[in-house]
Amino acid sequence: MSQKSKLSLQGKVKIIRKYMNGAVSLNSAAAEAGVSYETLRQWVMQYQAEGAVAFLPGRKNHTYSPELKLQAVQDYFPNSESNSKYLRYCKKCKIKGHPARFPMALPEFFIKFLTDEGDLVVDIFGGSNTTGMTAENLRRRWKTFEISQDYVAASVFRFVDSEEKAKECYESILAGNNVTL
Ligand SMILES: C[S@@+](CC[C@H](N)C(=O)[O-])C[C@H]1O[C@@H](n2cnc3c(N)ncnc32)[C@H](O)[C@@H]1O
Repeated sequence: MSQKSKLSLQGKVKIIRKYMNGAVSLNSAAAEAGVSYETLRQWVMQYQAEGAVAFLPGRKNHTYSPELKLQAVQDYFPNSESNSKYLRYCKKCKIKGHPARFPMALPEFFIKFLTDEGDLVVDIFGGSNTTGMTAENLRRRWKTFEISQDYVAASVFRFVDSEEKAKECYESILAGNNVTL
C-alpha cells in the first residue's frame, strides 16, 4: 500500500526523476522522500505509466480527456528513457543507445504478473537488457542473450554507478573479456 507523503507534486517528481536518472538508488530516494522502499517503487511505476498526472490530487475520482491522456503517454517515453543512466553512459562512450529499447514498464508488468521473487527471467533478444535490469530491480534472477557484442557491452551501463566503471567495463567486454560487477 502506498504511503501518504507531505511532498508537493514537484518534489515527488524531482525525487522520482533523480532515481530514474541513476543519480540515487531506490533506497536513497525513498529515504529522501521519507517513504518506504515499496512506496517509492510504486511512485516510480505510476510515473512511468502515466507521467506526473498520476500524482494530481483527487485524480482517482476524475476522468481525463483524450488530449491529457495523450500528453501523459508522450511525457512517459522521454522521461523513462532519454534521461536514463544508460543513455548518459552511451554518450560518455561516444556510442548510440540501443535503437529499440523497451520502456521498463513493459517487462515490469509481465515479470510481476508471471513470476515471484527469486524466479528466473529469460530474455533471448536482450538488446540493452531492459528486461534483465527490471528483473534485477524486482529481485528475480535473470539471463539474457544478445547477438550483438556492442549491445551486450553497452548493456553493462545498466548495472554500474560511475562513468569510469561504465567505460572500463564496456571496453573490456568489447575486447572479449568477462567483467565482474
Ligand atoms: C527489439 S531488440 C530488444 C530490445 C530490448 N528489449 C531492450 O529493451 O533493449 C531485439 C534484439 O535482439 C537481438 N537479436 C536478433 N537476433 C538474435 C539472435 N538470434 N540471438 C540473440 N539476439 C538476437 C538484436 O540484436 C536486438 O538487439
